[in-house]
Amino acid sequence: MMSRRRVGIVGFGNLGQSIFNAILNEPSLEVVFVWNRTKDVLRGIGGLALDNLEQFAEREPDLVVEVAHPSITARYGALFLSVCDYLIGSPTALADGLLEKGLRDVASTSGHAIYISAGALWGGEDIKKMADLDTLKGLRVTMRKHPESYRLTGQLAELAAEAADSDQEVTLYEGPVRELCPLAPHNVNTMAAAALAAHNLGFDGVIGRLVADPSIPDMHIVEVEVTGPGEPGAEFTVRTVRNNPAALGAVTGAATFSAFISSVRRAHGRGAGGIHLC
Ligand SMILES: NC(=O)c1ccc[n+]([C@@H]2O[C@H](COP(=O)([O-])OP(=O)(O)OC[C@H]3O[C@@H](n4cnc5c(N)ncnc54)[C@H](O)[C@@H]3O)[C@@H](O)[C@H]2O)c1
Repeated sequence: MMSRRRVGIVGFGNLGQSIFNAILNEPSLEVVFVWNRTKDVLRGIGGLALDNLEQFAEREPDLVVEVAHPSITARYGALFLSVCDYLIGSPTALADGLLEKGLRDVASTSGHAIYISAGALWGGEDIKKMADLDTLKGLRVTMRKHPESYRLTGQLAELAAEAADSDQEVTLYEGPVRELCPLAPHNVNTMAAAALAAHNLGFDGVIGRLVADPSIPDMHIVEVEVTGPGEPGAEFTVRTVRNNPAALGAVTGAATFSAFISSVRRAHGRGAGGIHLC
């Protein structure tokens, strides 16, 4: 009988709990630990709860899944990759170029793989193929949500509040994804995944646009605009629009939970050293 892939879950909030429950019904996977910063939520899962994340290797995981916060990757990413594969659920962490390079180096030395959930990104594999051939010339990802569905701080939060008080849409940010990630780390994982797929443009070349739109209380919209080779005005272009139903105020839309669980299933068997969308 094929052995089950041993999965450790870091973060036991909305995503962590939905992954945990999905794995209970998954014959090819088993949970070997769950860690969370606060321990009260771990009551009820018995011996699967892990107290000290530094000791995760004792549970002999094949895959660690991060669904907590980008800071986990900065602090523990290299340690995880020295032991097993690592699925990064908060890839905005990789807007730190030194961290990205460091993790790629550890992965290629240890022979383990870095996986990124494609999340709400549509067409990630196609974007990556164009990046591999260097035919990808431009990529803009627009996220459009109700102002209350953003979890923002600082200047972007003030702009979102302005949008909430009016009936007009407000563009909160338009520019390189690298600068946007630290400003809105919980909202732009899809854009970070796009920047990793579009590796010839990267976090500096991929453009992110964040729009607060009071007219869509129950929908998260992600638009991906790809530009390829050709004369100006007659270039290769692709535009996709993903409409994802979401409860008012929810940061994560309903379809993203099932997309994430399918990423956990697909996070295996790829080459070591690289970053793989799944
Ligand atoms: N890739 C994607 O498509 C995608 C989609 C949704 C959410 N996410 C990301 O996944 C992560 C989890 O999302 P969620 O909806 O489950 O969030 P959540 O708030 O429901 O759960 C987060 C959990 O992590 C813990 N946590 C919070 N801050 C922490 C920190 N600084 N250090 C350690 N633990 C911390 C909390 O205790 C909580 O249990 C977030 O970073 C979010 O941005 C990614």
